[in-house]
Amino acid sequence: MQPFPSLPTYSYFLILFFTTFLHHSHSHSQPNNFKTSQEHSQKQTHLNGPHQEYIEVSYPPPKHQPTPSCSHQILHHTFANTINTPPFSTPYSPPFNCPPPWTRVLLHFHAKTKDEQYDRIAAIWLAGVEILRTSTAQPPNSRIFWNVRKDITKYTSLLTKSDLDLTMMLENIVNAELTGVFHVTVTLLYYYKNTVRVPFNQSSDSISISKSKSRPGSRSLVNEVPDSRVLNELPADLIIPLSDDGKQGFWFRLEKEKDLKKRRIRIPRNTFKAVIELYVSFHGNDEFWYSNPPNSYITTNGLNTGRGNGAYREVYVTIDGEVVGSEIPFPVIFTGGINPLFWEPIVAIGAFNLPSYDIEITPFLGKILDGRRHVFGIGVTKGLSFWLVNANLHLWLDRESTIVRANRVIGHSPKTDVQRAEEFTGLNGEFQVIAGKDTMTTGWVLTSSGNITTVVMKGFTFSNVIKFKQNGTYKIVKQKFKFKKKVKVFDNKGEMISKFKVRRKYPLRVITVTEPYGLEDRYNLITNLSHGFNEKYEGKGFIHSISNVQESKGWINVKGHSVLSGRGSTKQNYSHVDKLSCYNRNVASDHGRIVSDNSNFICENAL
Ligand SMILES: *[C@@H]1O[C@H](CO)[C@@H](O)[C@H](O)[C@H]1NC(C)=O
Ligand SMILES: *[C@@H]1O[C@H](CO)[C@@H](O)[C@H](O)[C@H]1NC(C)=O
Ligand SMILES: *[C@@H]1O[C@H](CO)[C@@H](O)[C@H](O)[C@H]1NC(C)=O
Ligand SMILES: *[C@@H]1O[C@H](CO)[C@@H](O)[C@H](O)[C@H]1NC(C)=O
Ligand SMILES: *[C@@H]1O[C@H](CO)[C@@H](O)[C@H](O)[C@H]1NC(C)=O
Repeated sequence: MQPFPSLPTYSYFLILFFTTFLHHSHSHSQPNNFKTSQEHSQKQTHLNGPHQEYIEVSYPPPKHQPTPSCSHQILHHTFANTINTPPFSTPYSPPFNCPPPWTRVLLHFHAKTKDEQYDRIAAIWLAGVEILRTSTAQPPNSRIFWNVRKDITKYTSLLTKSDLDLTMMLENIVNAELTGVFHVTVTLLYYYKNTVRVPFNQSSDSISISKSKSRPGSRSLVNEVPDSRVLNELPADLIIPLSDDGKQGFWFRLEKEKDLKKRRIRIPRNTFKAVIELYVSFHGNDEFWYSNPPNSYITTNGLNTGRGNGAYREVYVTIDGEVVGSEIPFPVIFTGGINPLFWEPIVAIGAFNLPSYDIEITPFLGKILDGRRHVFGIGVTKGLSFWLVNANLHLWLDRESTIVRANRVIGHSPKTDVQRAEEFTGLNGEFQVIAGKDTMTTGWVLTSSGNITTVVMKGFTFSNVIKFKQNGTYKIVKQKFKFKKKVKVFDNKGEMISKFKVRRKYPLRVITVTEPYGLEDRYNLITNLSHGFNEKYEGKGFIHSISNVQESKGWINVKGHSVLSGRGSTKQNYSHVDKLSCYNRNVASDHGRIVSDNSNFICENAL
């Protein structure tokens, strides 16, 4: 994700961070990664000053984070020149003084850094199962730190096991020019049943531990879990990684369009429910896939860029060659992306905690319950180098029987309908992609407690328009994505025993104007960006909704990949609603500082 023009490209790893900038002409605007060099940061902070906090706005806010029953530091490591080295690994066992069962487990990630560096991608795996995908902030000219909190209760079946390998990969290059290293601490926070939400006394490094340790409660995951996809269900009994061997991290690297990464997996014959959780990030020529023009535009104009293939990507999962589900990823913008000054100190939505995507495959269980190994695959439609993808197979087991039977009744999953239109003359033109799909799959599973039928209905619409005007110096990208999914479960009498509904929307708009700046390889980029993530979960007795929008504007003066001067501002409105509470935060940054920050717990538009 981090281009660095002066690096040679002889090694496998360097290619990883090397992307060709569209240098054919300065009159052609293309989003890119940039690095703010120290002497040109927005701020004039002393290198020895206090650390400044970078944030990804999320829920709950720091002061309202619940006090854990106990905490357990599981990783403490400095990621320096990790290039071409294996990932960092350390043993994990649950804390002896805090035995399971817990009602909830949170992961607290803390990082700090100070010297010049690009944004970097990172992930944490437990026994090869990914539990966090994250990216780093770019240190401007000062000491910075950030914290990420993630509910990882859904990985409980692994967290209770001892002697597992906890692995973290943070691919970093340290050399004469890039000296930034990342100091990372990961702590797990365990909760017993009666934990209440009380203010969390947070200093940058330490985590307070509640003195009164309540007795371990039952496994019930009632609505006190504020941010969990599995509000109405218990965590899976078994999680199998659908990932690489771990020598370079457990993610698969997808380098080209037809790459399908495969893994043979045997699942227990008493599995009655299965969900594939996908983790995805895009880099290199696809870091800004949503703004890639078609190849015809690039070749006709003789542009020197690999960032093509049009602006549509779909990540899909196969079992024995059959597509069982797919996802359009949320366009996460890393901290060096588009205009790095936008992301000081509020980072883009998802940059510190990339979303994962659940694909319900219970209706397909009939294919894989025969006790044999089956080939699971992951690919990216139209994907260019490179994507880092892997998945976790969450399985729920019928403890009362050793074998359950299952079969698919309906399997209506057509190919995605993708329509493309293009029209251009020279560097001016307009490109459109419209895509959509509706699928419905139904399958039954004969368990010890009866014959259960699962119906999964899923649909999405996608549209992307890219326009180039003024000889390509003006570029607008508008993308819309709407997704809905309903999962209903019936018993043998046809009575509904559970249901939930998810809706998501990811609107995105980027306007970029490139202005020549006299000198040979310098130019100004003026950008307006608007970006949103909206999600609503509804089920029996639970509800959870997030509305999150960012608007950024600013300019940068660029030479190569370095920002020489500029200014950026970001406004963000975040709201979180669940059965227990509402939370709203409106925050704005300008010139590297928070200029307004208002939050409340008022339910204005209660669901
Ligand atoms: C919160 O933390 C600060 C600094 O670590 C400390 O001075 C203060 O006493 C703490 N407050 C409570 C209520 O524990
Ligand atoms: C389970 O229920 C479905 C739907 O009612 C039915 O088609 C199927 O035959 C049942 N399976 C068994 C083993 O009875
Ligand atoms: C676009 O380029 C053409 C040819 O170089 C030039 O004649 C024209 O004035 C340019 N138009 C704009 C809007 O810059
Ligand atoms: C960006 O938005 C501002 C208003 O917020 C507007 O004045 C300006 O023209 C926009 N810039 C572009 C390049 O569209
Ligand atoms: C945030 O909300 C305020 C008022 O509710 C509105 O004026 C502003 O445009 C919103 N900002 C964004 C980025 O949506």
